[in-house]
Amino acid sequence: MPIHHPRPFMTVSAAPQPSASTEQRKRPLVVMRSVSKMFSSGTLALSGMSLTVENGEFVSLLGPSGCGKSTALRIIAGLGDVSAGSIDWPSSRINAKGLPEGDISFVFQEPTLMPWQTVFGNVHLPLKLRGISKHAARDDIIATLATVGLKDFADAYPRELSGGMRMRVSIARALITRPKLLLMDEPFAALDEITRQKLNDDVLRLWKETGITVIFVTHSVFESAYLSNRIVVMKARPGRVHADFPLVTSLERGPNYRTSEEYRATCEKVSHSLLEAIGFPLDGHGEIH
Ligand SMILES: Nc1ncnc2c1ncn2[C@@H]1O[C@H](COP(=O)(O)OP(=O)(O)O)[C@@H](O)[C@H]1O
Ligand SMILES: [Mg+2]
Repeated sequence: MPIHHPRPFMTVSAAPQPSASTEQRKRPLVVMRSVSKMFSSGTLALSGMSLTVENGEFVSLLGPSGCGKSTALRIIAGLGDVSAGSIDWPSSRINAKGLPEGDISFVFQEPTLMPWQTVFGNVHLPLKLRGISKHAARDDIIATLATVGLKDFADAYPRELSGGMRMRVSIARALITRPKLLLMDEPFAALDEITRQKLNDDVLRLWKETGITVIFVTHSVFESAYLSNRIVVMKARPGRVHADFPLVTSLERGPNYRTSEEYRATCEKVSHSLLEAIGFPLDGHGEIH
């Protein structure tokens, strides 16, 4: 039975600690090398997709529907084989399946909670699968629920929660194993705008507090420009990287950032790139023809 030593959630620092693993932190977390994916139906979902994600980055994968964002995320998570190319984990210990065991969590668009389990039971699930009892996991689960604003809802059932709260449970369930990498596939696309903005801020706060690496799939330019420190625009048929924007800002992300000139300019630049990726002809001034 594995013994679980949860890292204290609130004290994990984004700043590299001076330790033997400092060297490892300097290495990229995950490297996609010329990955292609052909489904048995004959659809070439990805072709020659290369992407290096550094430890601690918040990368948005942005692209039109059907361009292969989910396929790329699933392949990174080991939920599907590559047809060509490879996925490497230079800074992780990998298991027999070639995956960094325990280091990846996935949040889908649907919260996919078990309706017959309480919030506590749902967040316990990944630990239960590792043989950790509810009793042993209790403090950690309550602390993680507190970080997503659900400390008082441990005994509630999913049907009693709003859509935003259910998504918070899903995020807590993803974080309970203290993964290095959080993969999020359009997690807030089904939520109303205000809830979405609140959850955007929560995810940013969690990212800063934990130093976790996030790959966030979205088709929203505004969301990607608000959240990320890097936006990778994808092109469709077959899916591949079209453009890669680092987003360096000295501004604190928050209400002021949403109305800043810098945010507006980023949204404009990224929108143009997305239009190019979709194949809209632009003139030299970035206007659509
Ligand atoms: N399991 C599957 N079998 C066959 N084709 C698939 C499968 N999953 C996705 N596809 C196809 O691969 C392409 C990329 O899909 P997907 O990765 O879901 O795109 P996105 O997430 O960007 O909307 C689409 O043409 C889609 O129809
Ligand atoms: Mg998708």
